[in-house]
Amino acid sequence: MLTQPFDAGRARIGSLHSLRLCVRLALALLAASGVSACSEALPGTDRSTDRSEQADERDGDDDALHHDPGDEADEDDGSDLDAGEPGASRPGRDGGPRADAGAVDGAVDPDVVAPIGPPAPGTGDPTFPVLGTDAIDVTHYDLRLAWQPGPARLVGEAALALTTREPLRALSLDFGPQLAVTRATVAIAGEPASAVRVEHAAAKLVLPLGEAVPVGTELVATIAYEGKPRPITSSAPIPIGWLVEEGGVVATLSEPDAAHEWFPANDHPTDKATFTTALTVPRGQVAAGNGVQEGAPVANADGTVTYRYRMDAPMAPYLALVAIDDFSVQEQGVASGVPLRNFLPAGQARAYVSSIGRQPEMLALLVEKLGPYPFDEYGAVVVPGPNVALETQGRSVFQGQSALSAATVMHELAHQWLGNSVSVTRWHEDIWWVEGFARFAEWLWAERSGGARTYASRATTEYAQLRERRLPLTMPAADELFDPSVYGGGALVFYQLRRALGDEVFFAALRTFCARHRHGNATTDDLFAAFAEAAGRDVRPLVAGWFEAGPPPPL
Ligand code: TRP
Ligand code: ZN
Repeated sequence: MLTQPFDAGRARIGSLHSLRLCVRLALALLAASGVSACSEALPGTDRSTDRSEQADERDGDDDALHHDPGDEADEDDGSDLDAGEPGASRPGRDGGPRADAGAVDGAVDPDVVAPIGPPAPGTGDPTFPVLGTDAIDVTHYDLRLAWQPGPARLVGEAALALTTREPLRALSLDFGPQLAVTRATVAIAGEPASAVRVEHAAAKLVLPLGEAVPVGTELVATIAYEGKPRPITSSAPIPIGWLVEEGGVVATLSEPDAAHEWFPANDHPTDKATFTTALTVPRGQVAAGNGVQEGAPVANADGTVTYRYRMDAPMAPYLALVAIDDFSVQEQGVASGVPLRNFLPAGQARAYVSSIGRQPEMLALLVEKLGPYPFDEYGAVVVPGPNVALETQGRSVFQGQSALSAATVMHELAHQWLGNSVSVTRWHEDIWWVEGFARFAEWLWAERSGGARTYASRATTEYAQLRERRLPLTMPAADELFDPSVYGGGALVFYQLRRALGDEVFFAALRTFCARHRHGNATTDDLFAAFAEAAGRDVRPLVAGWFEAGPPPPL
């Protein structure tokens, strides 16, 4: 979560972001079709204008909350960033085959249906029109990363196991331009791997397959690379990606779109995969990753040491974690059946007793309210930097002073259910329930320690701060995904639903939602469907004001 306001830099971040989108979109389209779309795609650099147009369109609906995303999926979403795209060659928004591929199935001769170039970029998410692709489903990432602090050089190898979802002649992955590919191979359907010549431009890596492969083919793409990863300015509150902080400490904070700045990825949360990570660091350093540590660290002949981690639950690429420091590893016991292990700055464990030290109770509270913890292990990683934290899967990372706040520790833990196990489908439509619930969970912790009055005062304080906020909640522009109004307004939706429905129905709905979409993705409609089931009626009218343009509805 954010423990500092970041409004000041937003305008600048917004225009840089738009520019980057424009450049990426134009280059991707140039590569794909030879047609420049940049001038059409971005009449202005002000994304908030685009969004208010969308909001106006939606006002035409009887009720924005009754809007069926399934319908929307088939329509133009109104984003002008889509305007220059060759609509006919886009993948189906439902993840089905492309419109121009005709009746595609495994029986059709792949030579006839596989397009010559790389698949069209994008997953239909208007916030990031060229990020990721629906043409593949990555099932596993095996990352081997060696970090050399002296030259600040990352030497990596990523093996991606994936299945084609369209007939393909080439694979396309997201991969930032800072890193150079040294070798790439592809193994098709269990055949021996063969080396391929890649094209790397506009944050896309294209690997030709040499032959057309049909839908449902299993491939392994292995990419060796090296370079100095550089943080990017995106829609996050701070520059993101592979960050090197004070004292050379490394931490990855990649939400929403910077995972591919340090490993090749299908970098959208709708394509989750399991991960194994081998992290090689100088002896004396400790490396933290996602999930369960496999065996003891192994000392290598060259004076380095390798740590291995395994995340067996599907994970969105942006939640991938690497942190490197001379950590002290603190075993915090097993709480609610979950082993807790923290990576703390050497010798500073005492500072976190009243925040990270309370994780067992926080876990118990969330397990009681939401159902089982979704992963095998949990813990906190504390690194220097600005005061922000990120809910990296199975082990959250806290920069600066953020780990001193029990509220922040609770916030990141709550994301393991809403955000990580159950992930967004479309960033702008779903971020409100991800960040809103995590903020609401802070209030549940306040209630546990301070009682009903403390809980209510959190809500009234939040409401008072929302005076000129941007609504509807499902419409933030790319540079407003993490706007304080998304957190506060989202939390107040949960607050009002709890008050109206009572604890039994309210938490039953959340348990249904978490169980039903466990290790998957969900939409705002899915959330309200779970509430409707638990309540025996549609509860959207109770909170509809938050999803309409205009001032915040009464508390
Ligand atoms: N999800 C973070 C939170 O818990 C906020 C966030 C988004 C973030 N992107 C980030 C934090 C990048 C640090 C770096 O509120
Ligand atoms: Zn959060």
